[in-house]
Amino acid sequence: MNDRSPDSHSKLNAPLTTRSRQRSEEWFERAQQFLVEGVNSPSRGAAVYSPGPVVIERGQGSHIWDLDGNEYIDFLMAFGALIHGHAHPKLVEVVARAVAEGTHFAAATPAETRAAEGLLRMVPNAEVVRFANSGSEATMLALRLARAQTGRTKFLKFEGHYHGWYDPYLLSAHPHPSRQLGCKESPARIPDSRGIPATTFEDVVLAPWNDFSALERVMKEQGHQLAAVISEAVMANMGSIPPRPGYLDRIRQLTRKSGALFILDEVVTGFRYAPGGAQQFYGFEPDITAFGKALGAGFPIGAVAGRRSILERMRWGDEMVLHYGTFNGHRLIMEVVAANMDLLSAPGVYERLHEVGDAAISGLREVFRRRHMPAIVQGFGPMFQIYFTDREGIYDYRDYCAYVDAARYARFVNHLIDDGIFMTPSNSLHWIISTAHSDQDIEIFLQAVDRACAKLT
Ligand SMILES: Cc1ncc(COP(=O)(O)O)c(C=O)c1O
Repeated sequence: MNDRSPDSHSKLNAPLTTRSRQRSEEWFERAQQFLVEGVNSPSRGAAVYSPGPVVIERGQGSHIWDLDGNEYIDFLMAFGALIHGHAHPKLVEVVARAVAEGTHFAAATPAETRAAEGLLRMVPNAEVVRFANSGSEATMLALRLARAQTGRTKFLKFEGHYHGWYDPYLLSAHPHPSRQLGCKESPARIPDSRGIPATTFEDVVLAPWNDFSALERVMKEQGHQLAAVISEAVMANMGSIPPRPGYLDRIRQLTRKSGALFILDEVVTGFRYAPGGAQQFYGFEPDITAFGKALGAGFPIGAVAGRRSILERMRWGDEMVLHYGTFNGHRLIMEVVAANMDLLSAPGVYERLHEVGDAAISGLREVFRRRHMPAIVQGFGPMFQIYFTDREGIYDYRDYCAYVDAARYARFVNHLIDDGIFMTPSNSLHWIISTAHSDQDIEIFLQAVDRACAKLT
């Protein structure tokens, strides 16, 4: 049981039924006068939350409270950034001290070395690290390094993989109706954003993921031209789609053979499944890894880690790979990262994350079975997703686009939000377990799921 569960919710199994959200609605009205869509990312506004977002006031542990005082168990956890939940006492202390001493100097600090030591202790595959400010910045830098290292320009990305909002990555990362996707051998190339020159995508080779023969074909035909293959470790932006056994290894083998680098995007999976990320969990070694989210425990961070011979290309000189940034190695955040690495190194942390997550997953499957709901749960331990589908599994982007009832999922999550469970209604994200979630949270969650199922049928 977690000792940071809020007192206000100590009565076992008490439902957290939401009453009015009037103040959220009023605040959202006001926000829309000054902010585009009333928020700072489309994934937080009325495009996803209907009729508008729950406006959050504060959080503690695994719980949050909205402006109307409604209490929720938070399973969004800031898209996975909050690996220790909200306001962890150790992090509050570290941040308070760092603020009082000066937040940032844009100069060398002991904090950045301690943060780097902590990260490299956790990720044995990596020899050195460079800190940036977001996952997008990390994947951006990773590609620049790979291009410099190989002297090649093209790279391979997979359908449905999201690597941040850098121009060349914004191809076929969003779901679309199946009829628009073209055939697997020659996938339709669908830009995710206006404002990107078509020429940018000329360097992008696009392939379906989790498909051995497609990978082998593309690598045979174009591998020798590729600077890199970039892949998420678990497909986390179409819900939660684990790699088929041996698939990531196959990318590793084929990139080695062709001289392309393997960039592993662990922005979501890093520090979640194992101390050394999904690469440690699955047992393989990428050339460059991008981290973000959980690394900062709720603070903005990105990092590129990997072999010294590659990252050393950033060393100052005529031939350097340029990576500047006023806020790189931000002193306050480096203190948080160093403390976070210590917290995550404590004995039993990952066992517990898996135990709590697996209990939620098996509980969900049991509710769906009992309620005769055509729903599956994919993923394991600290990250999973629910798909309303009659398929036995969702294995790639095309399965997601063809067989997942995302509208039903949104209705389901909206019932849960009304019942004190906070989650985005977007099916392409995933449920997150933090070190703050307790057995009691899972019990309450499963009871709410049962009620939501009753309302759906
Ligand atoms: C797999 C993956 N890579 C990169 C990013 C970009 O990270 P950030 O939002 O911190 O820029 C995300 C964000 O969701 C992501 O899911």
